[in-house]
Amino acid sequence: MKSFYMYEDQQRCFIKSLQSCFVGEVCRIENDESGEELLDLLGGIDQIEDNSSDILTIYCVLTMNCNLGCSYCFEKDKPRKDCVLSKEKIVDGISTIISSKNATSINVVFTGGEPLLKYDSLKYIVECLNTKYGEKCGYGLITNGTVLDEQKIEFFSKNKFSLQISIDGNRPVHDSIRKYVNDNKGSYDLILNNLGKIYKFGYDLGVAIRFNLGNRNYDFDSAFEAISKFKDVNNIETVIYPGFLSVNPNDEMYVDLNQQKAIIRAFLESAAKYNLNTIDRWNNAEMCMFKNKSGITIGADGMLYKCYSIVGDANYVIGKLSDYTDDCMVGSGSLCELSNCFYSNICYGGCPYNTYITNGKMDRDCQYELIDYINKAIFITELGKLVNLSFEEAISSIKKLMVD
Ligand SMILES: C[S@@+](CC[C@H](N)C(=O)[O-])C[C@H]1O[C@@H](n2cnc3c(N)ncnc32)[C@H](O)[C@@H]1O
Ligand code: SF4
Ligand code: SF4
Repeated sequence: MKSFYMYEDQQRCFIKSLQSCFVGEVCRIENDESGEELLDLLGGIDQIEDNSSDILTIYCVLTMNCNLGCSYCFEKDKPRKDCVLSKEKIVDGISTIISSKNATSINVVFTGGEPLLKYDSLKYIVECLNTKYGEKCGYGLITNGTVLDEQKIEFFSKNKFSLQISIDGNRPVHDSIRKYVNDNKGSYDLILNNLGKIYKFGYDLGVAIRFNLGNRNYDFDSAFEAISKFKDVNNIETVIYPGFLSVNPNDEMYVDLNQQKAIIRAFLESAAKYNLNTIDRWNNAEMCMFKNKSGITIGADGMLYKCYSIVGDANYVIGKLSDYTDDCMVGSGSLCELSNCFYSNICYGGCPYNTYITNGKMDRDCQYELIDYINKAIFITELGKLVNLSFEEAISSIKKLMVD
């Protein structure tokens, strides 16, 4: 899915499209209540993609165990145990899912707990899947970054892994949350050091750094400065992306809408200051794996779930890996009836884990005001980058229509 900008000559306006949604208020188009004029303008663009991805995505929780003890963790109240299935059984299970879905493109994402605590199993599973499926199978890793080393990085590079490292903010903030369970010490320095190894290696597939946002995250400068220094080493593509923590309103990390707005502004302004790439649109879970028909999670208990955030909850078990049938894959579909909502295509009822944490049910989570605010904030920040450029430079730096 892509966002793109266009410059409309007669109206002298910039338009950013969020796929089929437009941040209409930024456009200087008068009297276009039905939006037809704007649709005409964008009429030449026919790459509105289908959200029901045909990539089969399988999340694999190799262990619920973790060396860190983040207070907000999805899994904090669940047994912190390794997967009950042998690595051979996991390969068999994944193969059954692949052949049953007759998938042409597969993405296996390792998460946890901390998946690198089970690196040997991960390596075995990847090697077996490579032998069976070759290039058809791609891989991802979501890690806290504490146990990365050169040898593992080399393996991930060889197998074209997309890497996502989680960070909770600058050093004091991160260290107050992402602490080791055994000695309560913070993990910031080690993670940044390991991140440095990825850049030094020349990880040319790029790195995604997820910033978990909660009530302590108002200042990103020192973390972004450190990342921006890395980024230039070997010119590795880096995306920093924000993710608000889903926690109960009674949790000390909870932030309300006004705080979310302030945090996202600080995040975007700091990212622009350090010239770091971040998201170019804010979606609200889109057609996430809980809703779609092409994503599933293998829990460490050998059970199947439709979303990795609810692993270990018996109410949301949809089957056993050993008894997989395609019925397990059927998602909830859109959780919102309002298909005419401006943000429908990037929301479909939002992230149901946000309702789960308050009432135990995976349900519609409407965050209209937040989506609207953040997408406009992204747009304004992008425009702000043009201020010091000449008109011609500004025009040429605007992303072209992307219709490939
Ligand atoms: C459960 S962790 C597992 C992988 C690895 N241990 C890590 O921290 O990256 C996967 C991702 O979920 C995020 N996460 C955990 N609990 C969360 C919550 N309550 N709300 C939002 N994100 C959460 C983590 O920060 C991390 O980015
Ligand atoms: S590092 Fe990941 S798995 Fe471990 S406690 Fe934190 S969020 Fe949970
Ligand atoms: S949940 Fe809210 S923001 Fe999302 S599509 Fe429905 S009305 Fe729109």
